Amino acid sequence: MKQASARAHSNIALIKYWGKRDARLNLPAVGSISITLADLYTDTTVSFDDTLAADQARIGGAEVDPGRLSGFLDIVRETAGTNVPARIVSENNFPTGAGLASSASGFAALALAATRAAGLEMSPRALSILARRGSGSAARSLFGGLVEMHRGQDEDGLDAFAEPILAQNAWPLEVVVAITDNASKKVNSTIGMSDLDARSDFYDGWLAHAEDDLSSMREAIKARDFATVGALSEMSCLKLHGLMLSTRPGLIYWNAATVSAMHAVREMRASGLDVYFTIDAGPQVKALCAPGQGQAVAAELAQVPGVLETRLTALGPDAAVL
Ligand code: PMV
Repeated sequence: MKQASARAHSNIALIKYWGKRDARLNLPAVGSISITLADLYTDTTVSFDDTLAADQARIGGAEVDPGRLSGFLDIVRETAGTNVPARIVSENNFPTGAGLASSASGFAALALAATRAAGLEMSPRALSILARRGSGSAARSLFGGLVEMHRGQDEDGLDAFAEPILAQNAWPLEVVVAITDNASKKVNSTIGMSDLDARSDFYDGWLAHAEDDLSSMREAIKARDFATVGALSEMSCLKLHGLMLSTRPGLIYWNAATVSAMHAVREMRASGLDVYFTIDAGPQVKALCAPGQGQAVAAELAQVPGVLETRLTALGPDAAVL
């Protein structure tokens, strides 16, 4: 039996990705820029075991159908030249499938653990390309700090990878996650973003401005210009949700507490705190805070009706073998 374990941290996009240029290879239609989170992570162990009849998976203590994970392991097995089944055991230290990027940390940890268990030594870039096959956002979770995912142009997807913009310790930003619902979301991102060409009249506009948004964000991060980073993050989030709302059928990921928390963030800003919100394909609100402001923001968000829990976190590290 060959076994390895890895930890990868979840990430939150500040400039969002939504839409695919190739569904089979999971190639994104636009690039994205994200922040990796210190306190939200997935630990995964993969054991290739020739006494198993088929792949098995245990996530958060429950045996699950390995379906999508088996498909991902097949890519690793093909690269390693093996057909041995595997057992996957994975734990998130946060709610799964509720807009907290569990697929990002999950597939990044799986890519690292599975390749190591299979005896493959891959570069961070190659691992990022592999993790992307599981979930677009997973390509970014191989890296700590602030990270850019490239859309790429090539049909084989070998230029669609993530790489760091700023290291974990280069800018001590803080993030408050306000959890408004612990249930799994109803429409996962793969289904939500499928066939957008045919399903949204806003998609062309989304694609047309993606490169400008990315380059503005890249510059603002390099200049450590928090107000611009924050304003661009809020804009990209609202633009993403505008696109989601315009998709037939319209996708409404927010609940009442999500909207209340967005207003609360803007009120905090009006009263002098440096904080901006972002929201993914789920009802949780993530507040991006300038260094030192996270505690005050967390205390305010905890008072918002419908906010169940808040978590204050900092920038996280690269994914690592345990
Ligand atoms: O790659 P996925 O399937 O986890 O989709 C990610 C979609 C968003 O979280 C909404 C945006 C993003 O770039 O992370």
